[in-house]
Parts: sequence; structure tokens; C-alpha cells
Amino acid sequence: MARAPKISFAPLKPQLTGTAVVLTGEDIATGAVTKKALADAGTLLARAAKAENFKGKLGKMFALVAPSGLKAERLIVVGLGKLKDLKPGEWIKLGGKAMSKVPVSASNVTVLLELPEGKLAASAAADFALGMRLRAYKFDRYKTKKKDDDTTNSEKNGAPANIAIAVDDPAAARKEWASREAIGEGVVLARDLVNEPPNVLYPVEFARRASVLKKLGVGIDVLDRKAMQKLGMNALLGVGQGSSHESRLVVMRWNGGKKGTPPVAIVGKGVCFDTGGISIKPAGSMEDMKGDMAGAACVVGLMHALAARKAKVNAVGVIGVVENMPDGNAQRPGDIVKSMSGQTIEIINTDAEGRLVLGDALWYTKKRFKPSFMVNLATLTGAILVALGQEYAGMFSNSDKLSERLTLAGQDTGERVWRMPLGPEYDKLIDSKFADMKNTGGRYGGSITAAQFLKRFVGDTPWAHLDVAGTAMASPASDINTGWAAGWGVRLLNHWINTHHED
Ligand code: BES
Ligand code: MN
Ligand code: ZN
Repeated sequence: MARAPKISFAPLKPQLTGTAVVLTGEDIATGAVTKKALADAGTLLARAAKAENFKGKLGKMFALVAPSGLKAERLIVVGLGKLKDLKPGEWIKLGGKAMSKVPVSASNVTVLLELPEGKLAASAAADFALGMRLRAYKFDRYKTKKKDDDTTNSEKNGAPANIAIAVDDPAAARKEWASREAIGEGVVLARDLVNEPPNVLYPVEFARRASVLKKLGVGIDVLDRKAMQKLGMNALLGVGQGSSHESRLVVMRWNGGKKGTPPVAIVGKGVCFDTGGISIKPAGSMEDMKGDMAGAACVVGLMHALAARKAKVNAVGVIGVVENMPDGNAQRPGDIVKSMSGQTIEIINTDAEGRLVLGDALWYTKKRFKPSFMVNLATLTGAILVALGQEYAGMFSNSDKLSERLTLAGQDTGERVWRMPLGPEYDKLIDSKFADMKNTGGRYGGSITAAQFLKRFVGDTPWAHLDVAGTAMASPASDINTGWAAGWGVRLLNHWINTHHED
């Protein structure tokens, strides 16, 4: 939202200008070029490190202003720790951390991305750049007074104009960066959608923003209320019927793979605002429910990333976009609706709306596209926050293979998932006296009974449901995000697709 930094790669040169970033290993060991670049400063680095009690441990940093002897305005020193312990997943975090020390006012950043010994992999350089890009993100569209007088590591951190990253092999780094940049754009797009206020981002506007992907060659279908009525999507439509904003279903198709290969499908819950409906939520923190479309935002961000990096995969994204409001027209507890699948649902609690939206969206996706794998993301239950906090998303799946792959993709990207159980004993809890099922399963195992509900709409398709209520919205600050909307899941699913579904 704020100015995106322009990131470029250059060969290693002993030159530090503007805001300079250098790396050190344990005991302040630096590479040959970095050593040369710092030579004019004499013992400055050693003395400053001593004064800061900085020993080069992984992720530790300090910054010097107007370092004497150097041209740079500021010198940021980043510790790598022991090189043999340095895992690939650390580079994105290191980039984010370094960025947190870059002042808002900086217009030129030069990074000497040199290991104390050996060559740095191009993928590590690109990850570092992505970390910088993601940490520079700021949602300030609605601030009419910009404060840019703070000088360091702060939440108000903006994006500098130019970041030049010097590496061993710039051509290789540029090549890796091309796809990372596409992924970064996808994450930023997802964050923007989640951060937008609900008066701005209502279903029709959400559908319009998703439709912008047309520009990248993504096929778009937008189903309005009439089209959904025709298909019998009364579970989804019931949720939106109390809102003055009409519901939408958006289908995004990216055909970068072989013709005829069945697609992977990603389905997202897009509740633009969740008041709870007639089973209305308490007022405290209700404003957070603008983020109840984070699953759908991830799908849009992912489709952007896939198209922008021209992924060799056939992928479809489907999002059910509604607003859950109390109104004279709103759905009541006790109502019975017939879903597109033909299964009937007794509404017990109108606040258990996400599963109603997804039930129709999953069934539609399975029927129309016969996907090889189907993954859905939803800020589905508060109970998943109780179970897993904000570190892991809950994963529910009918496929061990898919679960394993997503677990590993989570470890690689840091967007981690933890598998939770499904089973017939839980399924029983959503049987209804009056209809085929009810939309809540009682006090215990709330995330599981919600997942059991979804499972009734996926048939035999290998499927995973990611409950992202704890990870995709109201997120705490991290190395690569200053907070709230994390854009969670874009990197995870991009990595999963890249590893298993690209020819
Ligand atoms: N959108 C909420 C879940 C949620 C809660 C997301 C907190 C993010 C943070 C969902 O629609 C909901 O209201 N779920 C209910 C289900 C209950 C009525 C069975 C819940 O979790 O309380
Ligand atoms: Mn709800
Ligand atoms: Zn909800």
C-alpha cells in the first residue's frame, strides 16, 4: 500500500552508501568484500560490536548512525550465527529483520549480502529480498496525516525507494527474484484485502477486485445471486440474505499446466463482515470480523502469485463472498435450507455461517472442475485459536498424502499447519432432528465438528480444510509483517503447488 521498494541486484563491490546493510557470522566474521568495504572505518565495527555486546548471533542486529570513515549514512549489522546451523528458512526472516532497522526516510539502501565464507545461494538472496519487501508493507491508505519523523525499527516503517542487493551472482539472484516478487505481490494483495474496512470491501467490491486478475490472464466468472439461486446454492445465499449487499461467488481459473490435467482447487471463505447475524456477536472486538474473508483473500493472492510467475499448473480458485448481518430479512435459528448438494441443513446458530458458505462453494468446485486436490481456507472457528493459538493453522483432511505435503510446505515456508482429527464419532454430533445436518455440533470440539460439516460437501476428492482464524487475521507482528493481516497461506500453497503440481 505504501510505496513498494524497488529491489535490484548487483555484483559484490566494496561500497557502502545510503543506508547500508552488512552481514557477519559468529565473532563478527565478515566476507572479503565486506571487510574491504569497512576498512576505511578502521576498528569501528569491532568497537561498536563490543559496546553493543554483539557477537554475530543469528538474527541479532545493531545499527550505527553516520559511521565515521564511511560514506554510508547508517550501517546496519546483521548476525548470521554459525553458518553450519543456518537453515534456508531463516533468510526471509533475516531480510525482514534488516528492514525493520531501515528508517522511513531512507531513499537508498545498499545491502552487501555476502557470507563470511562460501557463496550465498541465489534462492537465499531472493528470500532475503522477499523478507525486506514484506516487512516494508504498510497499510496506510486511510491515514491522512503521515508521520515520517521516526528514525528506526518501528511499526510506522515505510518503504524506501531503492534497495540494491549486492550478491555473488546477480543474474542468478534476479532469476530467483522474478518468482519471489510475484509471490510477494500475492501476499501484499491478500493483506490489503484483509486490512480493508468492511464498508469499503463488501461482496460486490471484493468480486471486482478479484476480477482485476483478468489482466494477468486469469479467467474470471462472477456468479450473482440469481445465478446461484439457479444452481440451488441456498446455504450460501441464506447467510447473505440479511445484508443489503448482494452475495457473490467468484471463480478464478489459471491454466498454466498441460491441457486436460485436472486442476488443483483452492476454495476460500469470504465473509466480508461477520456480525453473527441474528445470533449476534458481543460488541467487544467485533471490528476484527472485517477479516473474516481472509481465506478468500488468500485464494485471490495465491491466484495472483501463480499467474504473475506463470506457474505451470492448472489451478482454480473459488471464493464465496457474503456479508452476515441481522435484519428483518435475515436467516433465523430454526430455518432449514437446502444446499446445492441436495443435503438439507438446520440452522442452529446463524454465527456458524462460514461452513454454510463453504458447503456450497466446495460442492460447486468439486462438481464443475473435478479437481485432483481441493484445499479450502477459512477463518472458521474461534475454537481453533483456543487449540493452537496464532502459530499453527488447524488442518483437517481426508488424505494422508495431502496432509503430509502441506505439513512439509508449512515447515519450509514458516506458515505451519497442525493436523487435527476427523472421525465418525464427531460426524454424529452434527446430525439433526429435522434435517440432514445442523450447522453446529455443541460445545466440545468446535473446530472438528465444523470440519466434519465441510467434509459432507467434498465427496471422495482428496481435500484439506485449513482453519486460519488464528493465523490469517489479527496477527501479531512478526519479522516479515508489522501486523494484523499476514497474507497467511499464499506462500504455503504456492510452495505446495510448486513442489507437487507444476510440470
Ligand atoms: N468468523 C467466526 C470465527 C472466528 C472467531 C474467526 C474469532 C476469527 C476470530 C465464525 O464465523 C464463528 O462465528 N464461529 C463460531 C461458531 C459457533 C457459533 C459454532 C465460533 O467460533 O464461535
Ligand atoms: Mn460467525
Ligand atoms: Zn465467520
